Amino acid sequence: MNKEAINKLMRPKSVAVVGASSQPGKIGYTVLENLIKGGYKGKIYPINPAATEILSLPVFASVSALPEPADLAIITVPVKFANQVAEECGQKGIKALSVITSGYSEVGRNDLEKELIDIAHKYGMCVLGPNIVGSLSNSDDLNASFGPFLPFKGSATLITQSGALLIAMDAITYTRKVGFDKMISIGNMADVDFADLIEWLEDDKYTSCTCLYVEGIKDGRKFIDACRNAKKPIIALKAGTSVHGAAAAASHTGSLAGSAKVYTAAFQQAGVVQASDLNNLFDRTLALSLMPPLKGTNLLLVTNGGGVGVLATDAAEKFGIPLKFAPPDVQEELKKHMPAFGSAKNPVDMTGMAGNDWYYETVKFAYAHPWTDGLVVLYCETAMTSPVEIAQAVKKAMDDSGMKGKPIMVSMVGGTRCDKAMQWLVENGIPAYGPPDQAMNAMAALSELNRIQSMLDKTEVVSDPACAAKAAEIIAVARGDGRTALTEVEAKQIFSAYGLPIAQTWLAKCEDEAVEMAKSIGFPVVMKIISPDIVHKSDAKGVKVNIKDEAGVRESYKTILANAKVYKADANIHGIAVQEMAPSGTEVIVGSVNDATFGPTVMFGLGGIFVEVLKDVTFRVAPVNKSQIEQMLTEIRGAPMLKGVRGELPRDRAALVDVLYRYAIMISDLAGEVSETDANPILVYAEGKGVKVVDARIILKKKA
Ligand code: COA
Repeated sequence: MNKEAINKLMRPKSVAVVGASSQPGKIGYTVLENLIKGGYKGKIYPINPAATEILSLPVFASVSALPEPADLAIITVPVKFANQVAEECGQKGIKALSVITSGYSEVGRNDLEKELIDIAHKYGMCVLGPNIVGSLSNSDDLNASFGPFLPFKGSATLITQSGALLIAMDAITYTRKVGFDKMISIGNMADVDFADLIEWLEDDKYTSCTCLYVEGIKDGRKFIDACRNAKKPIIALKAGTSVHGAAAAASHTGSLAGSAKVYTAAFQQAGVVQASDLNNLFDRTLALSLMPPLKGTNLLLVTNGGGVGVLATDAAEKFGIPLKFAPPDVQEELKKHMPAFGSAKNPVDMTGMAGNDWYYETVKFAYAHPWTDGLVVLYCETAMTSPVEIAQAVKKAMDDSGMKGKPIMVSMVGGTRCDKAMQWLVENGIPAYGPPDQAMNAMAALSELNRIQSMLDKTEVVSDPACAAKAAEIIAVARGDGRTALTEVEAKQIFSAYGLPIAQTWLAKCEDEAVEMAKSIGFPVVMKIISPDIVHKSDAKGVKVNIKDEAGVRESYKTILANAKVYKADANIHGIAVQEMAPSGTEVIVGSVNDATFGPTVMFGLGGIFVEVLKDVTFRVAPVNKSQIEQMLTEIRGAPMLKGVRGELPRDRAALVDVLYRYAIMISDLAGEVSETDANPILVYAEGKGVKVVDARIILKKKA
């Protein structure tokens, strides 16, 4: 990251608008007008070859005519002139460009975009865009965009790949009362990308939370690293999660929209909270920008209405933060501020009689009490109370409690009086929502933040170079034969080198050898054809199972060989594998792909219909630490199967975690060579009895 240049991009002391126009309605006019109307205090230099004055500002004929190199140049000239302007900016000593101009990689002109970036880097300039709306910053009164106005004031910062969405969200900040300091359009991300800005925002005292609208990330690993290193919460809305949506996103931004499940995995590993839609992005951003994480599971609800209390309780369970009854001592104290027919359990129902005082006393006690990890205050509008006064009582109670570091939020169900009270709360640092389920979802975001951040660095991932060296030898043999598919025996040798518990498999070159191997493994055994020309062994009748004795081995050897010859007369046969017949267990599948955005990515799911019909699988970017793997085992729908069903003992989770951990190291080590792998099935036995990898597949990358 070119930090000095990004400082100038984000907090310029002077701004040049190249292509400033005197014609209202043109982007070059609007950007200049916005700078002035936004109240920007720095110097503004309009540049236009023909005009002498625009919006009462003196105009310069060219970049070279400027009295000084402006900190930031906003380019609003057509694409055919834009790169030449960039060259002039570089020669002038300008260090930051905000290129609003469209017509680059998003329409297939990658050549022009490369030229722009080459020019920029030649002069040490950074480029925001091209193809952007620009950027806005409340803390610098800087509307360097053609968006309508600076956003509703707050401490979140939006980074968006869609410029149009920036403009729409800018307006929504006022209706939703969610405050932003900055809004940044990054368009084609030809230079400055999400990762650079996330890193830069870490030191920005005006930003408490980073909010992302993502269509497609270019450098997945750089993104993960930047997010992992960020101390400030990050929330992302990923667009293009449907098959059709992904295609639309790709054509819009010119970047690849990867598989939604891999993005979800990467966000988890990067410590990024996700939003499900635009409304949800606002709800969650508000909470994350104003409140600390929810660090425990003791959430208390205080209400003046039983109905909203029940709705909030249902929502809490739905969003994974179910309520518990408050302990007796807490209940005793809470009873002091409610009528006899109230309830001090949880939700704490003070009844419709609750006024400012009861809210004050209850919130003050409950927020300060060590049992409470987080507090949600619900209010239904009544004729006897003033919503603004209730809001003020909640804020005063929170301040007077002396407690800090716990989340608190408010849900107010009512009309315009409640809207005003909620705005007051937000302006005074307390997230406020209408419907209780929105508040509970926002509280769940604070809980998710705590969970994913605590999983970030729990286990160190250790790779052993000896494993990679052994794998390289085996891969070299296949490459020498001009093959990209390893045989099952070769794949298992690599798995074994990484310590994966494979079902013992040896390659017999003749019948006698097969008999010796079967005896040494122990009956019964499985026998399979091993040939690079026969990928689907069963189709070639090349597999025999449950072979119980020597005669069976001899008979199977002959039959398998004959079947293979019938299937493909000229098949190159390496021999016949003799394999331990593993006892049955719960079938799972582990596999890997090389994701276009995030690189080697490990997949886990239950075998059989779970994977084939339900596609019940989950991913993580490799390598993966063990706490993330534990999480993988819980997040598939078929997770209860691992606990043991129909009287079965619980499955050996520890052994399965170890397999996934080693598997992820393996695919990470071999990422340069391997494109896809499968361990399918893996049989998982009862606790303490381990797992067995029964079949193995490794496909190498095609080399040019
Ligand atoms: N230096 C300074 N000014 C120059 C110039 C140069 N080298 N070359 C041209 N200009 C001036 C023009 O004279 C004109 O000013 P005028 O109105 O006083 O004549 C001004 O720059 C703009 O040029 P014009 O040809 O009128 O272009 P335009 O305003 O119609 O469009 C863009 C320019 C950049 C807005 C347009 O090409 C574009 O890319 N639009 C899409 C922007 C967008 O949507 N971004 C992404 C959002 S998600």
